[in-house]
Amino acid sequence: MKVLVATDKPFAKVAVDGIRKEVEAAGYELVLLEKYGEKAKLLEAVKDVDAIIIRSDVVDAEVLDAAKQLKIVVRAGAGYDNVDLAAATAHNVCVMNTPGQNSNAVAELALGLMVMAVRNMYNGTSGTELKGKKLGIHAYGNVGRNVARIAKGFGMDIYAFDAFCPKEAIEADGVKAVASAEELYSTCQVISLHIPATTETKNSIGYDLVGKMPKGALLVNTARKEVINEPELLKLMEERTDLKYVTDIMPASNAEFAERFAGRYFSTPKKMGAQTAEANINAGIAAARQIVGYFKDGCEKFRVNKK
Ligand code: 3PG
Repeated sequence: MKVLVATDKPFAKVAVDGIRKEVEAAGYELVLLEKYGEKAKLLEAVKDVDAIIIRSDVVDAEVLDAAKQLKIVVRAGAGYDNVDLAAATAHNVCVMNTPGQNSNAVAELALGLMVMAVRNMYNGTSGTELKGKKLGIHAYGNVGRNVARIAKGFGMDIYAFDAFCPKEAIEADGVKAVASAEELYSTCQVISLHIPATTETKNSIGYDLVGKMPKGALLVNTARKEVINEPELLKLMEERTDLKYVTDIMPASNAEFAERFAGRYFSTPKKMGAQTAEANINAGIAAARQIVGYFKDGCEKFRVNKK
């Protein structure tokens, strides 16, 4: 069995070593393709492999067509919007993710971005504190829960909205569950986005919703750029000079945001929420173990596509 690790944004070396150990202990071969840049290199590398571990790397019908031996793809991470699930099913390929494995890293970054924003992007002027501010967690999954846990330590007043998570589960964590996204945005001065990019959520965060936020609003995005309606957010930031946007996923219109809203806009140069040794080790090793479990025991836990 050949297992390919195809990561345009590589894991920390210590994580690759851990993945190799798991794969080789099972008697399989590990092939590494990092920083490949062009898709052609990925198409070449997938030709004779049985399994692939990816991060945000795109696995579409073309990749699946080229991967003639492929049986399983594991997205070492949470979001799998980069994988064409229907095409994988059509190719008889199992797709899994590794939920929860990198969520603390992403949550820590969300809080880090919040501190940076309320301290005026560390420009030396007097800012404000997170303590006492109302934080709205939009989607209460693995990352949202970690954000709540850390934000408690900051003394924030925490609210959450999740269309799929029962109110009781949210409130058991000492977080106030609200009934709608509209209520969350009109209540909270700080919103932290943790929704996946799906057909329903793409472009859903725009003028009307963000415009409901109280004065001194801060929108933090460590989720996906696709969930933001960029033209609408640009329009709103023009009108609402109190609104700040900090993101770990560079918008398509990054240059425009940066030029027009200097001092109240920040984007990391490359998505780095999950870029910690710990998250890479957790997600990478989980992915390797899931592949071994799939081949040796037929275990399909964490499968995300239909059969
Ligand atoms: C995820 O969905 O797990 C995060 O967005 C991390 O993505 P990355 O592995 O590309 O850093």
